[in-house]
Amino acid sequence: MRSRPERLQRLPQQYFVALLGRVAAAAAQDGPPLVDLGRGNPEAGPPAHVVEALRAAALEPDVHGYAPIRGLQRTKEAIAARYRDVYGVELDAESEVALIPGTKTAIVELALSLCDDGDTLLLPDPYYPDYPSGPALAGARIATVPLRPDEGWSPDLDAAPDAAALYLNYPSNPCAVCARPGTFEGAVRWAGRSGGAVVHDAAYMDIVFDGRAPESFLATPGAKAVGVEMWSMSKTYGMAGWRVGFVLGNAEIVERINLLNDHSRVGLFAPIQAATIAALEGPQDSVAERVDAYARRRELLADALPEPIVCEGTFFVWLRLPEGLTAEVLLTEHRVAVAPGEGFGPSGTGWARLSLAVSDEAIALGAERLQRAFAGVAA
Ligand SMILES: Cc1ncc(COP(=O)(O)O)c(C=O)c1O
Repeated sequence: MRSRPERLQRLPQQYFVALLGRVAAAAAQDGPPLVDLGRGNPEAGPPAHVVEALRAAALEPDVHGYAPIRGLQRTKEAIAARYRDVYGVELDAESEVALIPGTKTAIVELALSLCDDGDTLLLPDPYYPDYPSGPALAGARIATVPLRPDEGWSPDLDAAPDAAALYLNYPSNPCAVCARPGTFEGAVRWAGRSGGAVVHDAAYMDIVFDGRAPESFLATPGAKAVGVEMWSMSKTYGMAGWRVGFVLGNAEIVERINLLNDHSRVGLFAPIQAATIAALEGPQDSVAERVDAYARRRELLADALPEPIVCEGTFFVWLRLPEGLTAEVLLTEHRVAVAPGEGFGPSGTGWARLSLAVSDEAIALGAERLQRAFAGVAA
């Protein structure tokens, strides 16, 4: 066989695949059971009425053929209603909503839709490790805008360079903060100045703590003219395995995603869309319960750590490791897996991401081991 096409060779190592492999290998070693705080996989599934909607729809005889290629209109109307009623954003379900098999798909496809060969895609640093894959396939370069802890992890977009596209992500994985006032407005200004498009990754939009309200980039004046938002069923409803997400906002960008869909995917299984509608339109208590569980685990972790932690949203804690302590030491000597900061961009070295999407017992045990590990290097 000939060698892999250049575009595949450009792909970076898949951070999470490598991490899962490393954690599985460590778990197989002798020792006490490993506590895995490294992964971002919701520990609780969707509420029963959502699973029931899938079951009931799958029993219908006429749902097993190809679903409408660009998604059922009802599914797009359900998310548009959510945006209107909860986030205060008006969207046209037909032209401003694309249904996608998980936002990870859109992370890649948006880069392909916005960048030509040799273009630049601007990422925040730290960033979600899957962001470099799309520009690699597109033949685009990556540039970064720094996020600094003492500035609330918000970028100075008035000083940011021009680029074909800018990705932002609030609540932030890994920084666990919500957008500071003015950040989204800065992004719209950046787009006006550079002609680039803004992509806001809102995968954790509903997972916010301490009375905060979910905030959509699209609620910012001028946002729809310059960008889109990615919204996911994975974290809000614990449906990560179902692979359902949306790209919403700018009609031209939505059309580009739909165009790629027409050529490379064929919609989503109709019963999954029925369950998506049930989740979006049915009782929402499970969302509040999920948020409460993460907030409770955040406190368990905070009590064990020597420095105060910042966690305004998502189910992560972004932690600076003390001198002498690395993710590898935590894994092999203390049997706690964390996501090493190196994969989150140039500024991630010396940091680690901890997940709250595990049982209370796992958090308690992990917190105890972290406390011991931190005390060990402080001594
Ligand atoms: C910041 C961020 N964006 C996107 C995704 C992908 O989510 P989805 O399950 O919708 O593909 C994740 C998943 O962990 C994430 O953390």
